[in-house]
Amino acid sequence: MKRILNVVGARPNFMKIAPIQRAMQQFPAEFQPLLVHTGQHYDERMSKLFFEDLQLPQPDIYLGVGSGSHAEQTARIMIDFEKICLERKPDLVLVVGDVNSTVACSLVASKLWIPVAHVEAGLRSYDRKMPEEINRLMTDAVSDYLFVTEQSGIDNLLKEGIDRAKIHFVGNVMIDSLAYFLEKANGSPVLQQFELQPRGYALVTLHRPSNVDEPENFLKIISAFEEIQRHLPIIFPIHPRTEKNIKLFGLEEKVKSLKNLKLLPPVGYLDFMQLTQKCKFVMTDSGGIQEETTYLGIPCITLRENTERPVTVEVGTNEIVGTDTEKIIALGERILAGKWKTGRVPELWDGRAAERIVEVLRKG
Ligand code: UD1
Ligand code: UDP
Repeated sequence: MKRILNVVGARPNFMKIAPIQRAMQQFPAEFQPLLVHTGQHYDERMSKLFFEDLQLPQPDIYLGVGSGSHAEQTARIMIDFEKICLERKPDLVLVVGDVNSTVACSLVASKLWIPVAHVEAGLRSYDRKMPEEINRLMTDAVSDYLFVTEQSGIDNLLKEGIDRAKIHFVGNVMIDSLAYFLEKANGSPVLQQFELQPRGYALVTLHRPSNVDEPENFLKIISAFEEIQRHLPIIFPIHPRTEKNIKLFGLEEKVKSLKNLKLLPPVGYLDFMQLTQKCKFVMTDSGGIQEETTYLGIPCITLRENTERPVTVEVGTNEIVGTDTEKIIALGERILAGKWKTGRVPELWDGRAAERIVEVLRKG
């Protein structure tokens, strides 16, 4: 019987862990999965809603670390998680993605000689100004199982000297959740609630520090929205970091004056999936949303200078544009003119990645 600590902390972790927990529960004689929530994200709309929507069990262990600087947050998670590891003596710690909770827990486990599994390993933006890039590099360096979503992940890890035997190309657990919940999301009343027509609106999310902590970049993006909302409504569920900065930079009046730009609090998983699958296009700086739009065949304009998920551009419906106002507007116009690439679903993004992960762990 393997005791496994499955770690979540921030919004994009919940939809990645849900299918893994479910797959482990298929083998009750072999796995005892325990869910650890660090509390990196704690607002109801950034955490609790996802437990409901994704039918996740309540966390077995909640650390409640909250917000702070990178060092404060990472350190608090490490101190608390070390105690949990010493108490519970897991046979494996499984982490997902690239947030501070991911790196903090993998460092703790590896120093206690507890094997680490990293799901979504090998992604690289090659931009070390992104905190997530540091988290990815560090986590992969100490992981024993590296579960990869796309070919670039294998290539990057081999370049960094990771042993090929540790790398497993399994597909994408985020897509497992999407495939599993898509039909349920169809029942969400969110379109009626905000009086939206299918394919009659654009969907936006923004939260990367390079965009929303830098007033100049933030303003360039808002200026693009100002033009685009003249052509179709823009729905913008707003991340708490972004909401804070709109106030801090005095952008409230400007944003409110754009009548067709609708700001909402962050929405739950099923509502967001429904908004994504029914929109005309997405503009985002999210990592995961680039993948979800590729799976759904929805045009995605990525408001960043690079991506750690190149398959979404090479095979999928994603284009990287950065923060230049005119370039963003031009891409929006291209979509409205019906001139976007169609894209296809990347290899192994078939809803069965978690099963493959569990198969590897059963053998290991
Ligand atoms: C974090 C991740 C990022 C991920 C994003 C997903 C790191 C370094 N960053 O960024 O990779 O893409 O989550 O959403 O791990 N806040 C609240 N309520 C909450 C959570 C946060 O108000 O429930 C506010 C706090 O003011 C906090 C700020 O948002 O300081 C930023 O939160 P933090 O978790 O540090 O980073 P994110 O920007 O959310
Ligand atoms: N998401 C959501 N509600 C929102 C915004 C995003 O359910 O209001 C989902 C989104 O579909 C994806 C995940 O949250 O599954 C991505 O999280 P986020 O963009 O916060 O993080 P990133 O992927 O950039 O790390």
